[in-house]
Order: sequence, then C-alpha cells, then structure tokens
Amino acid sequence: MKLLASAALLLATVACGGEYGQSSIDPKTDVAEAIQELYLTVFIWTMIVLVVVWGLLVYVLVRFRERPGAAKPKQTRGDLGLELAWTIAPAIIVVAIAIPTIQTVFSTQRGDPENSLVVEVVGHQYWWEFRYPDGIVTAGELHLPVGQPIALRLQSADVIHSFWVPQLGGKRDVNPAVAKPDGGAPDPNWLYFTIEEPGVFMGQCAEFCGDSHALMGVRVVAESAEDFAAWGEEWRSNPSLAGEQQAVDSTAAGAPGLPLDALPAGLDAAVVEEGRQIFHQSFCIGCHKIEGTNAVGVLGPNLTALGLRGTIASGWLENSVENLEAWIRSPRSIKPGALMPGVSEGVGAFPGTGLTDPQLTAVAQYLLSLR
Ligand code: CUA
Repeated sequence: MKLLASAALLLATVACGGEYGQSSIDPKTDVAEAIQELYLTVFIWTMIVLVVVWGLLVYVLVRFRERPGAAKPKQTRGDLGLELAWTIAPAIIVVAIAIPTIQTVFSTQRGDPENSLVVEVVGHQYWWEFRYPDGIVTAGELHLPVGQPIALRLQSADVIHSFWVPQLGGKRDVNPAVAKPDGGAPDPNWLYFTIEEPGVFMGQCAEFCGDSHALMGVRVVAESAEDFAAWGEEWRSNPSLAGEQQAVDSTAAGAPGLPLDALPAGLDAAVVEEGRQIFHQSFCIGCHKIEGTNAVGVLGPNLTALGLRGTIASGWLENSVENLEAWIRSPRSIKPGALMPGVSEGVGAFPGTGLTDPQLTAVAQYLLSLR
C-alpha cells in the first residue's frame, strides 16, 4: 500500500512538472546531442551492471537462503575463474566507456571561430553580458540564429562563473580575465555548437559565485536566420541609435528622442518623457549605457533597446513596468548582493537614488519604451 502511494505521489510530482526548460536530456544542438549519446552509452552499461549484479544477488539470496534442516552449502575459498572474471569485466566496461567519452570531449572542443558567429559572453555578479561582432550589446538574453555555427567566447568581469544552458550543451567555466604572469592577454574559454531548432532555452550560472548565484539566469532565444537578422535590425534601429535627437551632454538634451507612434501599448508618452529626463539626469548614466545618449556607463548592463527583452535581472523577472519598478526600487531585495543601489539602499560609494513612486514608474516606463 505504501509502495503504491509512493508511486502515485511520484507520478503526480512528475506530472505537475510541466514544461520547464532546463532539461539536460532534451538536446537542441549538435554538441548537446553528442553529450546525450554519451550519456545513453554510459547509462546502458550502468543498467547492464545493475541487472547482472542484482540478478546474481537475488539468485544467491533465494538459492542459499536458510531453510530448516538444510545442510550447510559447499564452502569455497578463492576461485581463479571468478577472480579473473570480475577483474577483466570491469576493465572492459571502463574501456568501453572511456573511448566514446574521450571522443566526445574532443569532438565538442572542435570549433571554428573563423566561420562561426562569435559572441562574447561576460559573466558578472549576477548577470550575463553578450557582445556581438556588429556592436550589439545586451544582457541576460542571448539571441542566436538556428543552423549557424556559434562560438561563445567566455570571460568574467569578476569571479568565476559557469555558463550552462543544458539544452545547448555542457557547462563551461567563465574565468576572470586576469593577465597571464608574463603580462600576455588571458585565454578565454570557448563553447561551440550549432542550434538545430528555434525555441527559448533557459540556463543558469553553474559555479557558485556569491549571494545571488542561484538567481543568475540566462535566457537564450534561438530563432531562424531571418528572425535573428530582424532582431538585430530592430536593436540597431532603436531611436537612440537612429539619432533622432543628437547632442550628447550631461543634461536631458542628450537623451534620445522617441517617435510617439512607436510607443509600446500601456505606456504614457508624458510619463515616458518624464522618466527619460530623470534617467539621463541621474547617476544611472554612470553605470548603464544607452547607445547614442549621455548614458555611457559600463559597470552595469547595457540598457539599449531594453524594451526588446522578454526578461530583466538576467532571465529572472518578466520585463514589465511593475517588475522594472520593483527592481529599481530595491534590486537587493530581489537579488541579494546586486551592485545596483535602490531607492533607499546605497551600494559602496553610491547613495540610494531617493526616487519617489511616480518617478519609479516614469523611469520604468521610459526603459520599457526603449526599442
Ligand atoms: Cu555566477 Cu554563479
């Protein structure tokens, strides 16, 4: 009865799982397929060992169980045949596992950055930055084309992180870019793969990196070559880059203009304008960059075309006015250890921003309008 109840509970738990993207047994790239194949090979060997060992165990337990009046079974001490068998069999199994393992390790390292789309991945406490060869810089969300070889060039701005999107392939450590002892440039790590089908794949930092390690997500949007190109086009054509308003100085005059017909639904033009003034006159611009404006900071995520992202806080929150407000109000209550000051919480040399609720809404609406 207990067994039945446990089985039912297990089934119910699994059934409630639904679609959750971080599965390592649902490969979507050539590399993830290779790893999956290796995993299955090892799994099959493990099952063979399990069946043989458990089979023998059950046989012995039944065959030699104690029975009333039964004579003691024949006692054996040392058996050359058996000794050889259980030494040689595991050795064969280890070799059978080692050969495909080594092959897979090498095949997954074989990349060709010359003929790949190379994207720089920079790990930060606690977010991911992505830099494309054509100048696009974004954070938390990585857009990639399907069917084209990808080469991710991984480095960290602070401590060791590990980039892991299970459906795309294995983990890869992201190391701080410290110069070598001889002063030479540091070696990045690389991750190569070709995505096989469109989809949104969730990932996670897989190396403990501080307070909010568990909240350091990443969202990969894999799309057709056309959609990928359209996304790039949309990023580049956002009003700030299109130079709708010129002069970059330390006042609001440096902020981008925004054609009102492009305003996403639910945003109010006057509020957006107010948010723009506040943002570009505050010290937000010291850490964040919005291309084409006076916001030129590089410590925090680049916010250009933020409105194009589905999530904020590195894949952690849906991108909405409410969530942006909550984030700007108190980043550290969402991500402990985040390096951004909130309304009444300073960080390091930065005091709290002191923004009022209407000002928070305005800044949130302005950021969401960037697209
Ligand atoms: Cu970054 Cu853990």
